[in-house]
Amino acid sequence: MKWSYLALTCLVFGLSAASSAAEADGAEDPGKVELLEQKCESCHSVASHGISRTGKIEKLFGPDLAGVGDRHETSWMVAYIKREQVGENGKKHTKPFKGSDEELQAIVDWLGSLKAEEADP
Ligand code: HEC
Repeated sequence: MKWSYLALTCLVFGLSAASSAAEADGAEDPGKVELLEQKCESCHSVASHGISRTGKIEKLFGPDLAGVGDRHETSWMVAYIKREQVGENGKKHTKPFKGSDEELQAIVDWLGSLKAEEADP
């Protein structure tokens, strides 16, 4: 009995230590987490937030999304990423979105908060 209390205490303490480490890392924004979850970073860096493109095929690369909140309304981003809207070059976004509307909204809310001044400190 006594041992199980001790084990539980250790577990709870360990979990809370792990979650505060994630917050300190700046990874707690749900939109940022979701962007990484959806592998957007295979084509897009977000240099201002420490995200570097991971893809290998250069011709598929998209722009760095730092400052994208200055370039586009969030409602435009939703329609564009869902491929209901073409981009400035008259083409649809290359990658069909596989997540839910809520997941997309979280990503776009985060992207909308990315302003150019923080991209170029
Ligand atoms: C296969 C590569 C690829 C993936 C994966 C990808 N994108 Fe893109 N994305 C592009 C390219 C290429 C462009 C630029 C197209 C153009 O210029 O019309 C772009 C453009 C954009 C833009 C407009 C940027 C601007 O400055 O105008 C946004 C916003 C965007 N992507 C968001 C996302 C999100 C969110 C995800 C993940 C759900 C994602 N992209 C995944 C290739 C990709």
